[in-house]
Amino acid sequence: MRFAVCRTLLLGLWTIAGLALTSHAQQRLIPLEKLQSGLHYSGAEVQSLQTDEFANPGNIALDSGTKSWAKTDGKSNKSCQSCHGELVKMKGVSIRYPAIDKATGKLFNLEDRIRNCRVKNQKAAEWTFESDELVAMTLAVTSSSRGLPLQAQIDGAAKKHFENGQRLFMTRQGQMNLACTNCHDQHYGQKLYTDPLSQGQANGYPLYRIDWQRVASLERRLRFCYTGVKAEIPPWGHSDIRDISLYLMWRGQGLLVEAPAVRK
Ligand code: HEC
Ligand code: HEC
Repeated sequence: MRFAVCRTLLLGLWTIAGLALTSHAQQRLIPLEKLQSGLHYSGAEVQSLQTDEFANPGNIALDSGTKSWAKTDGKSNKSCQSCHGELVKMKGVSIRYPAIDKATGKLFNLEDRIRNCRVKNQKAAEWTFESDELVAMTLAVTSSSRGLPLQAQIDGAAKKHFENGQRLFMTRQGQMNLACTNCHDQHYGQKLYTDPLSQGQANGYPLYRIDWQRVASLERRLRFCYTGVKAEIPPWGHSDIRDISLYLMWRGQGLLVEAPAVRK
């Protein structure tokens, strides 16, 4: 399995001792000037696939999301566009998600927001997590913010979610007893078997993953990292994943949105 951690790196991970990983209120383990998108670690082939406007395999989902933006549906007989205008009006939206939903007080990622809008406002059939429709629409909405810097809001009602996300990022878990930080703060740039480990940044999501042959959400990526350390995966839609995502967006503050991004 590609994910398997090579023994030397593992040994390195296990022997990190005495690092105080708790109670840093908003301390940046990777300084802003050292932030790098996952694209940086992806290798020339993936990089050229992403930048090639025509060959980029994420374009198919992007086209389908863009079309569905203007398609009427549901009891409202409205499209997303009927209420929101052209897709470009979504410029600057994805960079501030996850964000608190005023109506429920919950932390919504962009997928939650779209699912909610679809049922509550469009009055159309629910889109399940990771359905082609939801992933494509999330990509389309995100693409309006292409090139904009991530700008998570972590104050007010979002604060406790940020803190929980940060705590989870630092907490060792699973049979391998590893925390996100052990791989993505302490060993980025090093090889995990054949591929270099990235900083685990979220600025490309949802993105086309070559291994999966499809566009996938950040939630799916995180679930895969849970699998990698043999930890119990929270059910789809779980608040922990949203809290970690908020932490990731803050941690990657200023990284530019890539859409459609491509990763191995
Ligand atoms: C054993 C090491 C390891 C641990 C622990 C781990 N990951 Fe990862 N993660 C990977 C690998 C390998 C990849 C795929 C290659 C890459 O981008 O580094 C990855 C990819 C990612 C990416 C996607 C980066 C991109 O540009 O596509 C994110 C985000 C991420 N991880 C977040 C997390 C979070 C959050 C946790 C904790 C819940 C976590 N990871 C735990 C190894 C790890
Ligand atoms: C009937 C009108 C209506 C339709 C149709 C509609 N929306 Fe919305 N949308 C809203 C309203 C109103 C809000 C403000 C939050 C709320 O009340 O749910 C919103 C909020 C949003 C937001 C958050 C914007 C922000 O600034 O944070 C997104 C993203 C969104 N909608 C996407 C969609 C998508 C995608 C569709 C189509 C699948 C859609 N909406 C269909 C009315 C609509």
